[in-house]
Amino acid sequence: MSFKPIGNVSNFADKETMQLLALWKESVSIVELEKAVSEELIFEDYTHYIVVHDPLKMEFPEKRDEWNKRFCRHAGVSVVELIKVDKNKIYFKGLFAENEASIYSILPYTSFDSPEADFPPAGMEILKKQTMDVALPQVNGKTILDVGCGVGSLTLQMARMNSEAKVTGIDLLEDTMKQCRLNAIAYDIENTAFKAASVYELPFGENSYDTVTCFFMLHHLDDIPKALSEVKRVVSCGGKVLAVEPLDHNHGTERGIQDWIEHFEKAGFSVETQQISRAVFISAKPN
Ligand SMILES: C[S@@+](CC[C@H](N)C(=O)[O-])C[C@H]1O[C@@H](n2cnc3c(N)ncnc32)[C@H](O)[C@@H]1O
Repeated sequence: MSFKPIGNVSNFADKETMQLLALWKESVSIVELEKAVSEELIFEDYTHYIVVHDPLKMEFPEKRDEWNKRFCRHAGVSVVELIKVDKNKIYFKGLFAENEASIYSILPYTSFDSPEADFPPAGMEILKKQTMDVALPQVNGKTILDVGCGVGSLTLQMARMNSEAKVTGIDLLEDTMKQCRLNAIAYDIENTAFKAASVYELPFGENSYDTVTCFFMLHHLDDIPKALSEVKRVVSCGGKVLAVEPLDHNHGTERGIQDWIEHFEKAGFSVETQQISRAVFISAKPN
């Protein structure tokens, strides 16, 4: 690359998280510039920027050849959303660059002045919005646990919507949890905690959560009964479990709404379900 570096990136992009680009898009990276951020670089009324950076060094699996071509070649270029600026640090959402990647250029892209300049959401994002419009308003209580929280975007939404509650997110990797904490700091959300753990062995006592959420995660698991028995252990007696599962894709076993009802009933829950587009919303109460 013939550009000169002007700064570098910090985030907690690990290989596993980067495999889920749709999730990674929601993460915040810090771009640390060698000099304080100048007005020529960041314009007051712009929301999005184009950032030129080192490309990803990782290789996506073979069937994602298209991603390798797009993200891992000679230059990395990301369209990012500006979250905030703090001295020589810029917090950007949507940067497809690894930790410590160099930054070469930052250009303004869209401004508040052109609200019609929108980024059309992809299929999964539409489904997520449709299901979350129904699921998130049903999350309540003082203690909320988001199981398989990924990079924490839904956890943070729940924390915003339940400002009196403590919202805890868990997922498998400590680096992903560090990224969740960075996202929470970037958005000034304080009522969250993130812990690396597996749903098979939740590091919490019995009856400790008023609401437990499992959004788009159960179909990733090999042993759903074991996961649901752990979830049942930590949810409080009068509490509830809210889950959303896709009906149009799976990781090996095809399941319909009835299969999900049976899983929850066998684990000792009373279940109500609602089909929302290509997904099922499950609301389950311990018996
Ligand atoms: C499709 S993502 C959904 C993330 C998030 N709930 C959302 O909807 O934005 C599925 C998540 O489940 C997590 N996961 C898979 N197996 C898990 C396990 N045994 N315990 C906890 N999380 C797990 C993955 O790491 C991944 O972050």
